[in-house]
Amino acid sequence: MAERLDGKRALISGAGSGMGLAAAERFASEGARVALLDVDEAAIAAAAARIGPAALATPADVRDEDAVRAAVAGAVEAFGGLDVVVGNAGVQLAGQDDRAERLSLDVWRRTVDINLTGMFLVCKHGIDALLAAGGGAVVCTCSPTGLFGCAPGYDAYSASKGGVAGLVRVLAADYARSGIRVNGVVPGYMDTPMTGWVTPEEHDALLTTIPLGRAGRPEEVAAVMAFLASDDASYVTGALWAADGGMTAV
Ligand SMILES: NC(=O)c1ccc[n+]([C@@H]2O[C@H](COP(=O)([O-])OP(=O)(O)OC[C@H]3O[C@@H](n4cnc5c(N)ncnc54)[C@H](O)[C@@H]3O)[C@@H](O)[C@H]2O)c1
Repeated sequence: MAERLDGKRALISGAGSGMGLAAAERFASEGARVALLDVDEAAIAAAAARIGPAALATPADVRDEDAVRAAVAGAVEAFGGLDVVVGNAGVQLAGQDDRAERLSLDVWRRTVDINLTGMFLVCKHGIDALLAAGGGAVVCTCSPTGLFGCAPGYDAYSASKGGVAGLVRVLAADYARSGIRVNGVVPGYMDTPMTGWVTPEEHDALLTTIPLGRAGRPEEVAAVMAFLASDDASYVTGALWAADGGMTAV
């Protein structure tokens, strides 16, 4: 039986860990070839080896435009083009991010550089490749913190993710007539290395904000990314699609 992503050529940033890694595995299991972009070279080399011939490690720091351009070019050369771009790399500088009057400009800049400017660079060069292929799909990882004030004390992270939501919408408008759909996926509180700083007390408090009453698994967001990347989502663009256990619905 044909798989849903058969023949699709995808590039995924932040593919060394968490939801990006789960997306790489899911996309490959649905028939796609996947380029794994991450600053953690060892992680994507190991993941690509595990996934097999469908996977390619394309190391880059998303803050470095030349490196992102080269990673996209490497994927295009290996696969003959790109059909899907997933902008997902991000950081939450726990212990450093803070409310505004205590937030250093350095932490603000590092967060915005990776989460927003890095997302822009992956989209910029990825979309260039999608235009050359005649169309495709972009999926960007957003956050409830970019939509609501639900992460007090994480001012840089929240603002960077608000920027990502705006970027999704304007890219959807800019590229719809070029055959490129652009959507955001909005994970809630996820069980990934990024949330490793959460104390047991904070964990219990977070669960009270989630109707399903548990943290999400990376695979559960990867499934939504696969849908948004696939032709099943042919009439979906500009959407911010929650996969958050109901967190943003209440
Ligand atoms: N974990 C959550 O609860 C949660 C909730 C909502 C949104 N998100 C967002 O989901 C995305 C994935 O997060 P995750 O939870 O899977 O985190 P993770 O820490 O498991 O994975 C993030 C990946 O991004 C990579 N990365 C970091 N900086 C980079 C850079 N400069 N260049 C290239 N790669 C870089 C890391 O090496 C890592 O492999 C992030 O954008 C995050 O903000 C996470």
